Amino acid sequence: MADTLVGSKTLLDIRDLKMHFPLTRGIVMQRVVGHVRAVDGITFSIERGQTLGLVGESGSGKTTIGRTIIRLYKPTAGQILFDNKDLATTEGEELRQMRRRVQMVFQDPYASLNPRFTIGSLIAEPMQVYRTGTPAEIRERVVELLQVVGLRPEYADRYPHEFSGGQRQRIAVARALSINPEFVVADEPVSALDVSVRAQVLNLLQRLQRQFHLTYLFVSHDLSVVRHVADRIAVMYLGKIMELADRDELYAAPKHPYTKALLSAVPIPDPKVEKKRQRIILSGDLPSPINIPSGCRFHTRCPMAQQICREIEPAFEAKEGREHYAACHFAEQVTPPVVKE
Ligand SMILES: Nc1ncnc2c1ncn2[C@@H]1O[C@H](COP(=O)(O)OP(=O)(O)OP(=O)(O)O)[C@@H](O)[C@H]1O
Ligand code: SF4
Ligand SMILES: [Mg+2]
Repeated sequence: MADTLVGSKTLLDIRDLKMHFPLTRGIVMQRVVGHVRAVDGITFSIERGQTLGLVGESGSGKTTIGRTIIRLYKPTAGQILFDNKDLATTEGEELRQMRRRVQMVFQDPYASLNPRFTIGSLIAEPMQVYRTGTPAEIRERVVELLQVVGLRPEYADRYPHEFSGGQRQRIAVARALSINPEFVVADEPVSALDVSVRAQVLNLLQRLQRQFHLTYLFVSHDLSVVRHVADRIAVMYLGKIMELADRDELYAAPKHPYTKALLSAVPIPDPKVEKKRQRIILSGDLPSPINIPSGCRFHTRCPMAQQICREIEPAFEAKEGREHYAACHFAEQVTPPVVKE
C-alpha cells in the first residue's frame, strides 16, 4: 500500500512497524518469557500539512506508536520514513537533529510539565538544548510563543500549578513548537481537559497547523473528537490498523465491523437520525497483547465472525479500488450503523 502513496507530498511513511516489549521473569537472572506486542505490524503514511486521526480503545497501542515515531523507543522491526530518512535505524547526533523535527504533546498536562520550573524556562528548554539562539533571543521567543498559544507574556515567570488544565496544554504546545517542528504527535491532547475548554484547545491546534504548516498524528479514543480534526482516520485494534480511510468516507461507509461498533457508540445530533442508530455492544474485554487471538485478532469479539476468521488473518487491503483500506474477510458486507432510507 505504502508504495502507491509515496511522493514528495508524503512527510511520514510508516512501514510494517513493530514495537514488542519483552516480558521478563526472575529478579537476578531475568528470563524473557514472552512479548507484549503493543504495535504489531503497522503501515500508513501522512501527507505534509495533513492530520491523520488514530483511534482505538484503551490498550490498543496508540501511545506506543507515537512514542516509537519520536524514537523514545527503538522499534522491534519496520521503517519510520520521515522525509525519506528512516528514523528506525538513525542513531547518535543524526537522530538528535531529526528529533528536532518531530515533537509530541502528551495527554496529561499535569504530569508533562515539571512543577519546579517556571513556564518561561519550560518553554525555553528545548531551544537551549538545541542552541537555537542567544539567551536574549530565546527570552524574546518565549514571549512570542506565549502569545501564539493565546497566553499572556507575564505568565513566563509563573509555575505550572498556577494554571488550569487547558492553559497547561497551551504551555505544552508552546514548548513543543519552540524548535519549529514539522510534525507533531498529539496524544489525546484534550482527553484530560474539561469539556468546556476542549474546543478551544482543538481550535488552537488547528490554527497552529495552518499557521506553521504542521503535520499531525492526532491520537484519541474518541471518534467524535477525531472527526473534527482529521483528514484521514486509522482505526486500531490490539496493535494493528483495522481500517484506514478518508474521514467522511469512514463515517459514511465503514468497511470493518470494529469501526462500525465504535461509530455506533457516537451519538448523532439530529434526533431523527439518532433514533435509527443501532448500538453495537462488543462483548468481552480487549484480549491481552501478550496472547493475541489467531487469525483475525478481532474474532473473539466480532459479531460477524465465521470459521475462516479464527484461522486466517485477513490482509489489510484497499477496498473497491480506492484508498480505503480494511482488514476483514467480509468487508463488503459491512453496513453503516445508521441505515439510509
Ligand atoms: N513500556 C512498556 N512495556 C511493556 N508493555 C507496555 C509498555 N508500554 C505500553 N505497554 C503495553 O502495550 C499496550 C498498548 O499500550 P498503549 O499505551 O500504547 O495503548 P493506548 O492505545 O495508548 O491506550 P490508552 O488509550 O489507554 O492510552 C498495553 O497493553 C500496554 O500495557
Ligand atoms: S475478518 Fe472476521 S472476525 Fe475479523 S473483522 Fe472481519 S468478520 Fe470480523
Ligand atoms: Mg495512550
